[in-house]
Amino acid sequence: MPITCRKCRSANAEVYIPYARLSLCPKCFLDFYVRRVKRTIEDFSMFTEDLTVGVAISGGKDSAALLHALHHAYPNLRLVALHVNLGIPKYSAHCQGKVEELAKMLDVELHVFNLYKELKIRIGDFEKTIFKKKICSACGTIKRHIFEELARKTKVDVLATGHNLDDVAGIMFNNFLYGHWDQLIRLKPVLPPLMEGFAVKVKPLIRISENENLLYCLYADVSFREIGCPYSKGTSAKKRTKDFNNLSKNNPYFRHQVLNRFLELIPMLENIHPKTVLVKCQVCGFPSSGSICAFCKRVLLVKNTIDNDLVV
Ligand code: AMP
Ligand code: FES
Ligand code: ZN
Repeated sequence: MPITCRKCRSANAEVYIPYARLSLCPKCFLDFYVRRVKRTIEDFSMFTEDLTVGVAISGGKDSAALLHALHHAYPNLRLVALHVNLGIPKYSAHCQGKVEELAKMLDVELHVFNLYKELKIRIGDFEKTIFKKKICSACGTIKRHIFEELARKTKVDVLATGHNLDDVAGIMFNNFLYGHWDQLIRLKPVLPPLMEGFAVKVKPLIRISENENLLYCLYADVSFREIGCPYSKGTSAKKRTKDFNNLSKNNPYFRHQVLNRFLELIPMLENIHPKTVLVKCQVCGFPSSGSICAFCKRVLLVKNTIDNDLVV
């Protein structure tokens, strides 16, 4: 016999939320999701409606659900969609297509940074460098820098990303295992601007699982990318996620528990862990822990490699 939705008590339930012990129909699930995002934004004081929020959207389900949910939760908020085209054959054009479709559907302003048009490099060029086996890591550094650049260009006050509960809890756990305290601290739901003039960074989906984002997209008719990044296959990050998923298999609260314990721990870590002193990068002027920032180092490395290839 079909189960009745616990909220409206009329429609058939299609979704079970284990941590809330709720069976919901599609419409009540969408309401539940939007309320949970709003509640997270309020609990962590992520932003107020008088600010401009830039959403980094990749074309994937998490950031697509985030943009859609924010648009519905805050009809008066100025939202700007920010996308980085990484120049990955087939994949990047597909992602940008999905992003454009969503921005048009929601009538949200979209800004695209095309890595090749702007910098004459593509993520695949890292294959010719020492980052050959760490393309995702180099790509992460490139993307984070460009998000900041796009945020400044479009004058957004707050930069929101679609990092979900599974991502954050998994990375927190891993950073803990390896003692990467700096990186653990950086997983806070709200990160203050690196320097004056930079955006606050927030993670409104930190309490929402990957599966909930998928269901949100399906029920809200949000189209998202159907292919995976060719560089993410078999990476150590993927293997670590698998290990973490095995740990959480029999406990629906596991990821929430990991997240909550680390959120308690981070302020203590911040007290005992010296803050990195930031200076301006000599090349781009962005905040950096050394005289040349990680982004500029990687761009210079790739450009030199391409130039040398041309000479030979
Ligand atoms: P990832 O690091 O790929 O797990 O992505 C984490 C978050 O970064 C996503 O949820 C998006 O908010 C953002 N993001 C990743 N890739 C892009 C991209 N190419 N353009 C814009 N935002 C992105
Ligand atoms: Fe960056 Fe796949 S999206 S390497
Ligand atoms: Zn720099």
